[in-house]
Amino acid sequence: MRILITGAAGFVGQLLAERLLNEGHRLLLTDVIEPPIPSAAKNRENAKTVKADLYEEAAKVADEDLEAAFIFHGIMSAGSEANFELGYRVNVQSTFRILDELRKAYLFESGRQR
Ligand SMILES: NC(=O)c1ccc[n+]([C@@H]2O[C@H](COP(=O)([O-])OP(=O)(O)OC[C@H]3O[C@@H](n4cnc5c(N)ncnc54)[C@H](O)[C@@H]3O)[C@@H](O)[C@H]2O)c1
Repeated sequence: MRILITGAAGFVGQLLAERLLNEGHRLLLTDVIEPPIPSAAKNRENAKTVKADLYEEAAKVADEDLEAAFIFHGIMSAGSEANFELGYRVNVQSTFRILDELRKAYLFESGRQR
């Protein structure tokens, strides 16, 4: 079982990735840029990285092996004020898309789809 972190190249994503790796968790790190595996972390081999734009490619990171997801990707503050369309697409629509892909992966895995 793995834990997904979106926005894994960002400030909070990197801090959480290091903490969870040090605790021995297996991670799936994703970001629109290739997310680095924190260099000071223990158990770095427990992290897999996927570069993906979650607006276009949310299905790339949703699989039935995930047990939890931390959703940290986004266009922060002044970035989304300067470009409302981009902020809306990433902060709102891509979040729905990743949640929908996770829902589908979970339903498939648990055999509860109709
Ligand atoms: N930084 C703080 O001090 C702080 C404090 C409290 C809460 N938060 C919250 O934590 C979350 C993360 O904040 P942060 O400071 O780490 O932000 P950040 O800007 O450092 O990281 C956001 C990441 O999202 C990625 N991203 C942007 N568009 C994307 C896309 N289309 N697909 C995939 N990834 C994309 C960026 O590449 C970036 O690495 C936010 O919800 C923020 O509000 C942050």
